[in-house]
Amino acid sequence: MKQVTLIPGDGIGPEITEAVKAIFTAARVPVAWEEENAGQTTFDSMGELLPESLLNSLKKNKVALKGPITTPVGKGFKSVNVQLRQMFDLYANIRPAKTTPGINSRFDKVDLVLFRENTEGLYSGLEIFDQRLQIADSISRVTRVGCEKIVRAAFEYANKHKCKKVTVAHKANILKNAGAMLLDVAATIAKDYPHIQMEDKIIDNMCMQLVMKPEQFDVIVTTNLFGDILSDLCAGLVGGLGVVAGANVGDEMAIFEAVHGSAPDIAGKGLANPTALLRSAIMMLHHIDLKDEAYRIEAALEATLKNREECTRDLGGNAGTKEFAQHIIDKL
Ligand code: NAI
Repeated sequence: MKQVTLIPGDGIGPEITEAVKAIFTAARVPVAWEEENAGQTTFDSMGELLPESLLNSLKKNKVALKGPITTPVGKGFKSVNVQLRQMFDLYANIRPAKTTPGINSRFDKVDLVLFRENTEGLYSGLEIFDQRLQIADSISRVTRVGCEKIVRAAFEYANKHKCKKVTVAHKANILKNAGAMLLDVAATIAKDYPHIQMEDKIIDNMCMQLVMKPEQFDVIVTTNLFGDILSDLCAGLVGGLGVVAGANVGDEMAIFEAVHGSAPDIAGKGLANPTALLRSAIMMLHHIDLKDEAYRIEAALEATLKNREECTRDLGGNAGTKEFAQHIIDKL
């Protein structure tokens, strides 16, 4: 049995987590969950956003599955997600976006993976606010080491999955230093993978290309904020945040997460779609080398998604969270 830390999170988190647990039990996946929470829920009950017991569990198990966590806008605590990424140097945010038969989207041949640098750039936490002058400085710190790690991760993935092309998205025409450094690092690392084509695109053009001709992309790598925006754009190409997986991966630890938020508008109503968390859990199974289990659950999920009636409301169906999970279990 592989021990994995399970963070249910806030809002719809516990509901979608229960669905994933039920599917894993039915599929007899050899994973033992160690449940530890974080975020608004633990803040309300224990006065702590990131309880010590959770951090110890993560350090011990080194693999986690995480539900969404509420972050107040413009005030209150620093995002728990960002804290976890920086605390454990989870430098690669990996977001696959692939067209799924049965899920409505504008395109039918999207199959790409985005690698977003996850700890630097505008998320470095270097913020200065001059109260008197009313000036806010948000400093974007990009390091060569940080660029090297994320670009290497993208090329390694492309190599392993036999992808043909890596696209580097940047703004080197304006951000002369950070952009040039990323491009220089990418050109150097690309030499180690002569069978993989490397191209670069300025971020604004990249956005246009993605919404006009997304089939041309394979693996995309970029800095933190550009990646944050592109990753949701890519989710929009294949059906939205409710259906895409995400992973935060470092050299020592990996946290797999639903990329959507805690959806307070539907929390507790049994309506949430667990697909995003389940797909993240499937990514996790590949990561811990439980590939047969990953393929089995994926096949049952894909078969369920093809039948609109069996899907949750956000996908045009009538099923609640539990019924949707049961349809998947029935197909295992
Ligand atoms: P949200 O993703 O929670 O909700 C946006 C819309 O999508 C809502 O209408 C919601 O009902 C729907 N939705 C989201 N996930 C769904 C699911 N699995 N099934 C069915 N419908 C779903 O985004 P919002 O409202 O901007 O954020 C709410 C809270 O979540 C905020 O506190 C935000 O900071 C946090 N958040 C956390 C994230 C994380 O932990 N990774 C990511 C994004 C937001």
